[in-house]
Amino acid sequence: MYEAGLIAKLAPSAARRATIAAMKFVTALGLSAVTLALASACSSSTQSQPVTFHKDVEPILQAHCQSCHVAGGIAPFPLVTFADAKPMAPMLAVATASKKMPPWGATESAACAPRFGWTHDPRLSTAQIATLDTWSKTGTLEGNLADAPPPVDARPGLPGVQMELQPAGPYSVSATSSDAFRCFVLDPKLAQDTWVSGANVIPGNAEIVHHVILFTDPAGESAKKTLGADGGYECFGGIGVQDTSILMAWAPGMQAQEFPPNVGTKLTAGTQLVMQVHYHPHTVAAATSDKPDLTRAQLRFNPATPEYALVSLLLGNFDKTEKNGDGFVYDSSDPQALSTFVIPAGAKDRTVTQRVTLPPTLDGKNALPTLRIYGIGGHMHWVGTKVEITAHRLTPLDPEPQDECLLGIPNWDFNWQRVYHYDTDIETLPSLRQFDQVTLKCTYDNTLQNSKVQLALSQQGLKQPADVKLGETTLDEMCLGIFQLVAKVAP
Ligand code: HEC
Repeated sequence: MYEAGLIAKLAPSAARRATIAAMKFVTALGLSAVTLALASACSSSTQSQPVTFHKDVEPILQAHCQSCHVAGGIAPFPLVTFADAKPMAPMLAVATASKKMPPWGATESAACAPRFGWTHDPRLSTAQIATLDTWSKTGTLEGNLADAPPPVDARPGLPGVQMELQPAGPYSVSATSSDAFRCFVLDPKLAQDTWVSGANVIPGNAEIVHHVILFTDPAGESAKKTLGADGGYECFGGIGVQDTSILMAWAPGMQAQEFPPNVGTKLTAGTQLVMQVHYHPHTVAAATSDKPDLTRAQLRFNPATPEYALVSLLLGNFDKTEKNGDGFVYDSSDPQALSTFVIPAGAKDRTVTQRVTLPPTLDGKNALPTLRIYGIGGHMHWVGTKVEITAHRLTPLDPEPQDECLLGIPNWDFNWQRVYHYDTDIETLPSLRQFDQVTLKCTYDNTLQNSKVQLALSQQGLKQPADVKLGETTLDEMCLGIFQLVAKVAP
């Protein structure tokens, strides 16, 4: 089982140091850019409305940046007030022009252009990027407070929340310790089968909570473990529950997960939840890192059986080719191809292909219903650089193409993982039916030119890349597709 390895094994304290160095560099660059730009602004006479903070910049920061750039948020500095933003202006221009900020992986390319856009897509338009650039180059004017957008609550909870669950007690991570994975057993006390229509995670100490995954535990396996006073147990390699699926994966900057009224995830009576929290006590301020965490989970339920059931599924992580040609796909045309999942030390641009053919039935009786892809994501570790997920349909449903790229992440970044949701109606979501094939292509760079490999190695006290195999630890790799699939509930 690799589920528990789904998200973040290790987050880069070294990356943060590197970022600070980069920030200094960018600031230096940015300042000279400002000087130049001011010179050119003076010579141009066609400026109409000056770009100001309150009128032009603040709305962008509110909608696209403040989910992380707030006091106590995961970003290293707030971007809320004029005073926050002004000294950062050149960096804002650089970080947004390079598309480093806001973080987002699902980028269209010639190789992969999904048919639909994405919901909650935080990316800035070309005009917004230009606005930040102009603001930084034209004297970072404050403008009139009267032009400011109404303030927003940067961290809204789950609308209509009906249940809030928290661990038996707080959990402390010392500022000097390394990453910790703690699993908390939460009991929603479900007397009957229940449909979840929304879920959310509210980090207690937002500065150390890196990722949270809510797993289901229908057989109550987790409650039989030896639990600490916090109601939790260590769970680095996995949550140690056989019968489990993912209810929600949360990462900073993510909204509450809300399903439309006709969609729900079924929890059978008596199901426990296991909340796996990845703590990354990286922060420079030891005092805040030391503050105990009490992360809460929020749930909302469907009043009745919904029209569609949503299940989360992980596909991939095959080490070998399976009987029917599924699993690890050996590429005989590639002279360097290997027959198992290994990324040799020094291999650059090595692609591993994995394939799954959807079975005709799941229970041996009923034919697999038409599944619609509600949400999709990829998962790799540090060596991964690119992931592409495609579908090949045996007999496409009109108007769907036979072959379709479902998701492409051309610049994989382990720090910014999420599930992406197509911006379209359920009945028009990309479908998967029996005998359709899903192919995952994961590309890796196991050289020192890959800065993430460099960091991961240095954190282990290593200097040279080693062969990377399939596994759960930091220096292992994975190739996974995360699928949230919906199917009509049988009447
Ligand atoms: C999902 C959280 C998140 C969002 C949204 C976000 N940031 Fe960031 N930002 C971070 C984190 C965390 C860092 C620290 C560097 C890192 O870990 O990548 C950062 C770093 C930065 C930096 C430092 C420069 C650099 O290259 O590292 C700038 C500038 C920045 N953000 C600007 C913005 C702007 C402008 C927006 C909105 C348009 C934005 N960010 C949206 C989380 C976020």
